[in-house]
Amino acid sequence: MKKALITGITGQDGSYLADLLLEKGYEVYGMVRRSSTETFERISHLIDRVHLMQADLLDELSLIRLVESIGPDEVYNLAAMSFVPTSWSQPVLTGEFTAIGVTRVLEALRIAQPKARFYQASSSEMFGMVREVPQTELTPFHPRSPYGVAKVYGHYITVNYRESYDLFAVSGILFNHESPRRGKEFVTRKITDGVARIKTGRATELRLGNLDAERDWGFAGDYVEAMWRMLQADAPRDYVVATGETHSVREFCELAFGHVGLDWEQYVRVDSSLVRPAEVDQLLGDATRAETELGWRRRVDFPGLVRMMVDADLARYQGGGAV
Ligand code: NAP
Ligand code: GDD
Repeated sequence: MKKALITGITGQDGSYLADLLLEKGYEVYGMVRRSSTETFERISHLIDRVHLMQADLLDELSLIRLVESIGPDEVYNLAAMSFVPTSWSQPVLTGEFTAIGVTRVLEALRIAQPKARFYQASSSEMFGMVREVPQTELTPFHPRSPYGVAKVYGHYITVNYRESYDLFAVSGILFNHESPRRGKEFVTRKITDGVARIKTGRATELRLGNLDAERDWGFAGDYVEAMWRMLQADAPRDYVVATGETHSVREFCELAFGHVGLDWEQYVRVDSSLVRPAEVDQLLGDATRAETELGWRRRVDFPGLVRMMVDADLARYQGGGAV
């Protein structure tokens, strides 16, 4: 039985990846940080089938001990401070978690388990002010937030450890991916949660920032499969994972409100305090390499994703569904 270690198992992607690896027969270990309250909502359905172990991206020794005690075959480094606006208010902490944290995990592997295969959660946010459309593995980076800058560091340190120490270390440059398990501060979930609150009489409006921003949005469940495929490949290589379609926040609103028979323009208010100091205007990825070399395909399309998220939030408020 293969052993996999997931950092960030309590997050959106960690929970879907744990589902996938359990289904494939892996023994799954999840790294969690100490907290005064548990944050296990997304993994409550599988908590009896995984091993949760405490360590922190800020503490090198805790990572070395973790890797030594597990001896994993595969390590998925998903833990990070992942919310872009917070990276302006906490830029130093973002660098510690999202940039230097990657080096700490790589060092733990180099010292304690150099044979393990390593996946780094890189991001389309690294393309920022995009240099070409669509973006591929060869597109230069121009990050627009402290988060994006930190991810560029994490990306290149992964490449560097592969080249310096011959580790099987790869970066997945994933474009935005969403789901009913997405954090409520991210725009898609904020909209679908808002739609459900308005539809069930709990709210009368939804305040958003830049409605013109465009993103290449896919389904998280599809994207964790690409992560796994990258670690099964014959050779370590970096891959873009995207749908090849881009849609605006406005379009997301139209579809989400329309799905429950509401006109979005009657409820959405633009709040200038939610506009970012520097914006990524449009992202659009080209996943040809992942499709041809890994055989990866997305299954959920954009309208299907919006419907899935609205239905889940509505069911939750109507008392039916767990998140
Ligand atoms: P998420 O829901 O915000 O989850 C982040 C995870 O990181 C949580 O489990 C969190 O634990 C953990 N974490 C944060 N700081 C930590 C620390 N110091 N020590 C240990 N654990 C820590 O993020 P996600 O959407 O699943 O994304 C997963 C990864 O992919 C992130 O690295 C993100 O930057 C990257 N990414 C995401 C997307 C996307 O569209 N979702 C696209 C490209 C790249 P707590 O539960 O304790 O907070
Ligand atoms: N969060 C948020 N809240 N975003 C808003 C709002 C709002 O009220 N109104 C408009 N937006 C716009 C943002 O300005 C941005 O252009 C877009 O919606 C998407 O914002 P988020 O959903 O917060 O995601 P993100 O693109 O900044 O970052 C996500 O994707 C990255 C990959 O490109 C995160 O998951 C990152 O961790 C990830 O790396």
